[in-house]
This record gives sequence, C-alpha cells and structure tokens, in this order.
Amino acid sequence: MQTGNGEGRHGFEMTQFLPTRRTLVTGALAGVATAAIASLNGANAQSGVRRARYGAAVRADALAADAAYAAALAARCRLIVPEGSLKWSDLRPSATEFRFTDADIIAAFADRHRIDLRGHTLAWYGAMPAWTEAIASRAEAERTLVHHIETVVSRYAGRIVSWDVVNEAVPEKPATVSDLRPFAWTRWLGADYIAIAFRAAAAADPNARLVLNEYDVEFVGARFAARRAALLHIARNLVERGVPIHAIGLQGHLLADREIDRDGLQTFLREVRVLGLDVLVTELDVIDASLPGAIEVRDARVAECARSFLNTVAEVTPPSAILTWGISDRYTWVPMYFTRSDALPNRPLPLDAQMRPKPFMAVLEQFSRMAS
Ligand code: G3I
Repeated sequence: MQTGNGEGRHGFEMTQFLPTRRTLVTGALAGVATAAIASLNGANAQSGVRRARYGAAVRADALAADAAYAAALAARCRLIVPEGSLKWSDLRPSATEFRFTDADIIAAFADRHRIDLRGHTLAWYGAMPAWTEAIASRAEAERTLVHHIETVVSRYAGRIVSWDVVNEAVPEKPATVSDLRPFAWTRWLGADYIAIAFRAAAAADPNARLVLNEYDVEFVGARFAARRAALLHIARNLVERGVPIHAIGLQGHLLADREIDRDGLQTFLREVRVLGLDVLVTELDVIDASLPGAIEVRDARVAECARSFLNTVAEVTPPSAILTWGISDRYTWVPMYFTRSDALPNRPLPLDAQMRPKPFMAVLEQFSRMAS
C-alpha cells in the first residue's frame, strides 16, 4: 500500500504545506502528520500550499457534439473521468463483448489535451447489465469479475491514474457496520468481492491509485454516521489484510438542505489518514432542489455549500484531487432524481448551461489547481 499523492502522468508538483495551528493540534492529537489548505474564510489559499488538481466527469456523446463543452473541459481540467463510459452497463453488452468506443473517445481527448484520466467504476451495483443475473456459481462470479477488471484496467494501464475500484459498497442505511449492499457480486462472493476487485486491479496496473468510493458520508444524522462507520470498517479490513488500496473517494453530492457534519466527517477523515489512505473528492456537485429559485441567491448558496465541505475536508487533509460530477449545468444527473418544485432548471455545477463560471468555480479555483 503506497501513500502520498504521487498522481498523474502530466505532472503534479508537490510544494510545502503551511499547517495552521488547528491542524497541528488536530494532527498531533490524531498522531497523524497532516497539512491543511489555509481556511478560505478570507485568507485565500496562500502561494506555496499544495492544492488539489481539479477535474470533472465527462460524457462522451456531449464531448463529440458540443464544442463549447469540450473547450471548457480542456481549459479548466487537469483530470477527467468518464461519467458512464467505463461502467459495466456501458462497456459490457454481453458476457462475451467489451464496447470501448466511448471510453476511447474520452481517453483520446485526455491525451490530446494532456489531461489525466480517472476510471469509474469496476464494481458497482448501479450499473450491472442484465446478463450478470444469469451467473450461477461463486467460481463463475469470480472469473467474470476478475476477467472484466483485467481486461479493462490493462487496456488503460499507464493512462488511467486512479480507479474507483469499488463504488457504493455500503447500503443506503446499513443495519450493522459490516452490512454490504446486495448485488450479483455479494450474492456469490460475499464481502470477498471487494478484496478480489482491488487485487485484480492492482495486478492489471500496479501504478494506478486504487480508490474505494462512497456517497452520503458528509452530513449530520444517524444514517450518515452509520455509513461513515461502515465505510471505515471496509477500509480498515482491507488495509489490515494488506489488500492494495490507496484512497477513499468522497463523492460529495452535497444536499443543500443538509448540514455538513464537521466533527463526524473530520473524525472519519483522521481515521482514514491513520490507515495511510489518501482522500479524493470524486463527484462534487450541490443538489439545489430545496434552495431559492433566484439565480444569484441560489448560486451563492451552492458555492457556500461547496466551500464549507471543502474546508471541512482540507482542515484534516488536502484532497489529492477534486472532481465535480460534470462541469456545466447543461449536463447533470441531478434532475433525474431531484427536480425543483418551481420547475426551474437545477444549477448544481461550477459552470452554467452557457459554460459561464459561477461562484462555485471561484471556490474550486481557491482549493485546486486548474489546467490553465
Ligand atoms: O445515453 C442513453 C441515451 O441514448 C438514452 O436515450 C437515454 C434514455 O434511456 O439513456 C441514456 O443513458 C443514460 C446515461 O446516464 C447517460 O446520460 C442512462 O439511461 C442513465 O441511467 C445514466 O445515468 C447515470 C447514472 O450514474 C447511472 O449510471 C448518470 O448519468 C450518472 O451521472 C450517474 O452517476 C452516478 C455515479 O456513477 C455514482 N455516484 C452517483 C452518481 C449520480 O447518480
């Protein structure tokens, strides 16, 4: 298991940290040498403080059809991740086929613009093709999972710098700390599917950073605390068994009507750092369905949500990357599940539908290194 943030084919210079008093005390108490990005309450991140790389999730169809979208990504991102093209549902039309066309379009764009690439995701209940329901034994399940990971990870070895190996392993509302979300792999492999996936990914590309990615661990509330505990239980088990894992991915789909659990999340993050794992923010956006309709007010609240969350994380450990789940309101998943009662379009992302920067983008510029 490696530590440190040596990510990226296209350079990522490290500079010294400027730990704050809170960080030193926190770090000392946690026994973990941590560093912080200066709080952004007025004192912008000073020069010389390492800031995360910024990136965004990308849709292959929009990349090919929308020049303004492609230009915005090329101008602002140091890292991109296919929003869907590397999921089982997109890659695997059948047990014998792999369909890489869309993922290759995004990989070629990344190469052309010297942008690093993330992979999402090698094992996720949310994108399992119907044919996997026909799997009928443990041996067949393991063979199918390992073959998929070997084929996909080795194809992009040296180009994809980090993978969401396992995504959303924790149930919506875990009953116990060892509860796992049921799907084809847990049905036949139980909890072993997680270690099997990480080991297969490490064997296929020993240089890729391997990430356990999760959502709804950011907020105040019993369900969110239970999800943090379950995620930590998985991570600790993997580390203690010497399974190759390098980081935790906080998806960061921020519910604007929920309070960030500063103490709970920071305690969780300190435990993650004690395990020697890095932290990435992998799918940041702000679900604005409950916010006022007025655009200026709403955009300011969205930016403040993002700032509060990123401050909370960075005061324990600077994320090695911050990616938003899309870059423009023109292409966002949010209205699939969170439409507004006033029927106004959602505004969850740092650029509006015309690719114009919003206050959210200014927050990202303070926390992270943009392409330009
Ligand atoms: O491309 C087809 C289009 O041809 C077809 O006409 C249309 C109607 O069926 O579907 C289109 O595909 C949709 C795809 O998004 C492309 O936009 C799929 O139906 C739809 O299920 C898919 O939803 C994605 C979802 O994951 C499921 O894979 C969202 O875009 C994507 O943002 C969302 O991302 C997830 C992360 O992977 C994990 N974390 C949560 C996050 C948000 O749900």
